[in-house]
Amino acid sequence: MKNICYVGGCGRLGMALATWSAHKGFKVHVSDVNEAAVESVNSGQFETIEPRVEEFVKSYAGKRLFATTDTEAAVAASQMSFIIVPTPSLEDGSFTVEYILEACGPIGAALAKKEEYHVVVIASTVMPGHTGGVIRETLEAASGRKAGEDFGLIYSPEFIRQGNIVYDFANPDQILIGQLDERSGAVARQYYESILERETEWRTMSLVSAEIAKIGLNASVVTKLAIANQLAWICQSYPGASSKDVLESIGADNRIGKKYLSAGPIWGGPCFPRDTRALVRAAEIAGATAPVAAAVDSFRDEQTENLARLVMDTIDDNTVTILGLTYKPGVDIVEESAGGALKMALDTRGCQTTACDPAVTVNYDLSAAVAASGTCVLMTPWPEFKELEKMDLSDKTVIDVWGFFDPEKLDCRRYLRVGEAGEIVHALAGE
Ligand SMILES: NC(=O)c1ccc[n+]([C@@H]2O[C@H](COP(=O)([O-])OP(=O)(O)OC[C@H]3O[C@@H](n4cnc5c(N)ncnc54)[C@H](O)[C@@H]3O)[C@@H](O)[C@H]2O)c1
Repeated sequence: MKNICYVGGCGRLGMALATWSAHKGFKVHVSDVNEAAVESVNSGQFETIEPRVEEFVKSYAGKRLFATTDTEAAVAASQMSFIIVPTPSLEDGSFTVEYILEACGPIGAALAKKEEYHVVVIASTVMPGHTGGVIRETLEAASGRKAGEDFGLIYSPEFIRQGNIVYDFANPDQILIGQLDERSGAVARQYYESILERETEWRTMSLVSAEIAKIGLNASVVTKLAIANQLAWICQSYPGASSKDVLESIGADNRIGKKYLSAGPIWGGPCFPRDTRALVRAAEIAGATAPVAAAVDSFRDEQTENLARLVMDTIDDNTVTILGLTYKPGVDIVEESAGGALKMALDTRGCQTTACDPAVTVNYDLSAAVAASGTCVLMTPWPEFKELEKMDLSDKTVIDVWGFFDPEKLDCRRYLRVGEAGEIVHALAGE
């Protein structure tokens, strides 16, 4: 297999996968409806914050990397096609499959004319049952061919972190292949074997199991985060309690483990919150229930309210600077971020807020942002914010949701670490 197609390949995930495959020697055909993005790839000038991607585009554009708006032609030129188009969340928590079905038209048209075996890989996040259901039916109708016989069909999600997509794609804990039939799975495995940088665990299963595993995994990670944060808020209410000590002890038990077990703000970004809600919806659709995932999701909002109350009870002059609007450092994504949610909650309470973020604030000026308010709340642990440890903050309060600062180094009037009950315990007591 030499030629791979990525439909929706100019997106955040798609371009990282496409360029890594080009780097590993594949001839890569990217198709996308975004004409400007297609042009920027072909001119070698594609811009993204994801490490290595710009450099790969520069190196391979026009040599092994070709972008087009013509999906049918890109699929026709390839032996395997990944579909990585958006699947935005609907009101009820489920993912829309609309863009995938749109893409199935030209993909089916190419399949109809193919003589060689072709595998279609769904990499977009979809609801359980969609790949083997409506996606399969649409591809079969558009191609006049039968999935599992005339062409292959796989659901294979990528377990990547934003800001590390290329690295995680090449070094995954597992490769998950939901397959309609064994031949499809074997072709997908052959592809993955040639792009991986290390040994991994291989899992093949039914399409629907893989679909549930993808959202179930993210819902499980946030459950662990919710447990850590729940303990932090409990410690917050007991004078002398330290969530750091409590969580270190709990994490030392190897049934639980230390990873993702520290107190922090709410989880955000384009996967965790929406995958949790989708799991709840998936349960409802099937007549089952997902009370744990539902509780974890509603606790997310409760935590923002807890923090907003704590901030309001702590400040004396009604002015707050929020440090960090992206959902984590190293990315430019503000979707469902803790900083954004806190800003909204404080604005609603009539607080005057200023926000500052190295990736998304126009004319980023940390000193000016800090000077603007009596209180700074650290919401995203960007290394840039360590500058506060060198500033004169003698008239400021600093609220640290991450335990990011060294309190010894902060020259501030008051320092509060959420989850470490000290003077701020009064803010929550009695509420
Ligand atoms: N970004 C991630 O880290 C990540 C991780 C896991 C899963 N996913 C899933 O992957 C999918 C894509 O995510 P993303 O973040 O890359 O989205 P994105 O919005 O950055 O990219 C999607 C791309 O698809 C293109 N597109 C839309 N409709 C198209 C069509 N009919 N034909 C061709 N191109 C089309 C868009 O122009 C865009 O360039 C989503 O389902 C998401 O949940 C993403």
